[in-house]
Amino acid sequence: MTDPLGDTATFDRAARFYDLLAPTPDAEELREALSFADREVERLLDVGGGTGRGASALGVRERIVADAAAGMTRQARRNGLEAVRADAASLPFADESVDAVLVVDALHHFGDPERAVESAARVLRPGGLLVVREIDPTSLVGRLVEGGEHLYGFDSKFFAPDELGRLVADAGLDAKFRSRGFEYTVVGRKSDE
Ligand SMILES: C[S@@+](CC[C@H](N)C(=O)[O-])C[C@H]1O[C@@H](n2cnc3c(N)ncnc32)[C@H](O)[C@@H]1O
Repeated sequence: MTDPLGDTATFDRAARFYDLLAPTPDAEELREALSFADREVERLLDVGGGTGRGASALGVRERIVADAAAGMTRQARRNGLEAVRADAASLPFADESVDAVLVVDALHHFGDPERAVESAARVLRPGGLLVVREIDPTSLVGRLVEGGEHLYGFDSKFFAPDELGRLVADAGLDAKFRSRGFEYTVVGRKSDE
């Protein structure tokens, strides 16, 4: 049966072992992406943040994981992070309350990725930044990952870099993307005017 929130049930079960199995996020790429923010990043929200691997890689004062799987938020707290159970499509945070939103290897698992991007844009402060790290389904490795995830039973919906760039722009952010092999990063900055 399709999970309206995305692939959360599987992640709930995998949370205990996730840190042993998951690929390590590219901290340098994330730091470089964050430098596009037009304000100091002191409060960061890691959406679909799982056990908090993306947030943990960054030296930001306040780091909060928001994830729909209870097992993941429990593990993120064990890892020393603040964590809330939440659907990415309706983040329980006030408008303009965070400096940056990170979404690493997670957007393709969300039940409603379009609303998730809008929700991220809403919570950003002026000058704040959305950073999305994704897999390019038009690359060979990306196609293999996509096929593998569907075989495994995930509902993953992957976006090509230009498609995701448009989605981020449609949410009112100034979007840019950079591709490196099968992985890419889209950043969307909220105007501070
Ligand atoms: C592949 S994991 C990535 C975790 C983390 N960002 C990382 O890089 O290690 C995808 C995460 O998205 C979460 N997720 C799936 N659907 C979600 C939703 N609708 N809202 C919030 N989180 C969701 C899953 O529970 C899981 O923790």
